[in-house]
Order: sequence, then C-alpha cells, then structure tokens
Amino acid sequence: MNFKTIEWKNNKVILIDQTRIPIEEKYLEISDYRELADAIIKLKVRGAPAIGIAGALGVCLGANKIDKDDKEEFNKRLKIIIDELAATRPTAVNLFWALERMSTRLENSKSKGVSEIKEQLLREALAILDEDKIICKKMGENGASLLKDGDTVLTHCNSGALVAGGIGTAVGAIHTAFNQGKKIKVFADETRPLLQGARLTTWELLKAGIDVTLICDNVAAYVMQQGLVNCVMLGADRIAANGDVANKIGTYGLAVLAKYHNIPFYVVAPTTTFDMSIKTGSEIPIEQRASEEVTFGFGKQTAPDDVPVYNPAFDVTPNELITAIISEQGIYYPPFDFKDHAQ
Ligand code: MRU
Repeated sequence: MNFKTIEWKNNKVILIDQTRIPIEEKYLEISDYRELADAIIKLKVRGAPAIGIAGALGVCLGANKIDKDDKEEFNKRLKIIIDELAATRPTAVNLFWALERMSTRLENSKSKGVSEIKEQLLREALAILDEDKIICKKMGENGASLLKDGDTVLTHCNSGALVAGGIGTAVGAIHTAFNQGKKIKVFADETRPLLQGARLTTWELLKAGIDVTLICDNVAAYVMQQGLVNCVMLGADRIAANGDVANKIGTYGLAVLAKYHNIPFYVVAPTTTFDMSIKTGSEIPIEQRASEEVTFGFGKQTAPDDVPVYNPAFDVTPNELITAIISEQGIYYPPFDFKDHAQ
C-alpha cells in the first residue's frame, strides 16, 4: 500500500481526502474535532472501520482543545464532543463502538489528572488503529481461503485499505488471495450515487496490479447471467445478531441476484462491525443523504431541480441470502450464531 488512509502526526489527524480520489492524492491535516466531524459527514474519510478510527482520534483532538485543569469540567466538555462525533453518521456501528471504547477509557481514568487522561485517550485511539491492522490481516486470510485461483469476484462500494487502518475487509481478502499467487479478476460496481466503486475500488486495485473491470451497477445482473462471476464479496457497516447485514445501498439487490444465479454471496467484516445488541437488521438505522447527491452529482445537474428524491445510503440484506460471513475470528455459515464471537 503506498498511501495512508488515516494517521496521527504532530497532534493532528492526517487523512487522505477520499472525495478527491482518483483526481489527486491530497492529504488533509486536521487539528479541530469539528473539522474531523465534517470530514466524516462529507465522506472525506469513510467506510465502517475508518470512521471508527477517525471518531476515536477526533476525541483526542477535542480533548487537546479543552484547556481546563478542572476534571469535572473537562469530562463534561469531552462528553459533548463525543456526542457531536456520534451524530455524524448513523449506520456503521464501528463509530459507536470506538466512541464507547473512548468513553470507557475516560471513565477508567477518573483518578488521573487531565494531562494524563489526554495521554491515555490518545493511547486508546492509537490502539484501535493498530488493532485494526492486525484484524484486517486475519480477516483477509480467512476471506482469501474462500477464493480459488482463477475466480472472478464481483464487489460493491469500497472495502479496501481506504476503509481501515489495515488492508480493508472484502477487498483486503481479494488482495490477500492475489498476494498468495491466485489469479483473481474483479468486477467493481460503480456504486451510485457517490461512485465509491468507480473512484476508489478501481483506484486501489489498479495500484495493486489486480485485474479489475468497472461496471455500471445495472450491469451486475447481466455479468452474472453470462456466467462471468464466481462469487460476490463485499463489506458491511453493521451486522445484527441474526446475521442480517447493512451495507452500501445496492447490496441487497446483488444478494437477490446472486441467489437467483446460484452464486455464493460473502460478507467480510471485522468484529467491530457486529452489533449483538440488536436482534435483526430492521433495527439498524439507515442514513438518508442529500437529494443533490442524486440530482447534481459531481457538479452536473442530471434531474429537474424540484424532483423529490429518496436517497438511502445503505440497505439491509436478510441473512437467508448470505452464504457466509467472514471476520477475523473465522467463517460463519447459516444459521448464523455468533454466540462465541467475542466483541
Ligand atoms: O458511505 P460509505 O462510503 O461510508 O459506505 C461504505 C460502505 O458501505 C462499505 O461497503 C462498508 O463500510 C463496508 S467496508 C468496511
């Protein structure tokens, strides 16, 4: 990987601006937590694990800006900051998981002074980032074990190194299989309306030397019908206790298509994406985004000004359409039972 998705340097969060890829590789240096929150909302940093990491580092930016030595005041202000970061995007559970972990660290540091609490918070956020690298590696190996030499994989949205501290989720597994010497071809859906597949997945795969072909979303059915796809492999933003999966809008449609064409449908996601507090996918909050993303995408008007638009960013795929869910802990087959899945 010759780019860094997110890191902490000189008390700043350094992000590759994902809204500029593939036009340019521009890094943002963020020192204000509100700017970071805005970067999450605007998808400058995106993808489930990456927004968890960004949220945790955002807490550190916020903590550094509080110049109070009074612990009670510090805690009060930091909790408000954590709430602001939590209000950025609702669907990927990794954000809430990471913020919860930062809140627990704050709670457990009660006996310390403010400057030591700040240090401890930073240590926790960097641990989240480092752990994600190891998780991605294991998850990649587990996912790669399902890919055979010569396979063609259809993927949706972006789930490579841009979504994580490490090599990513589904694209991480493809990458791992490729590094194991397997010849893998990829069809990347462009992923309307924000084109994460066209802009980001193809960019990552081309950089890695992996054979990728870009298709419009509505070509997926046709390539399956033509027998050109061996499996669908993609990531997740939240997985319910029964194995229902929320992921980028269009995922559910692909799962239905895969079932019809008898093609395995694999979801690759770290434990931090599992939400065992909810029984089914119907409880997952689905982010609704601005109508301009559909009517005025990338600076060009493509629909009348006043047309009503429905623009959900995610959908939920019912567990019965999923062949396997792969995490760093192993491969799960239906009926999904994550009882032993440590969180
Ligand atoms: O709106 P985005 O670009 O943040 O959506 C991201 C996705 O839906 C990814 O497929 C998902 O995070 C899985 S990869 C970690």
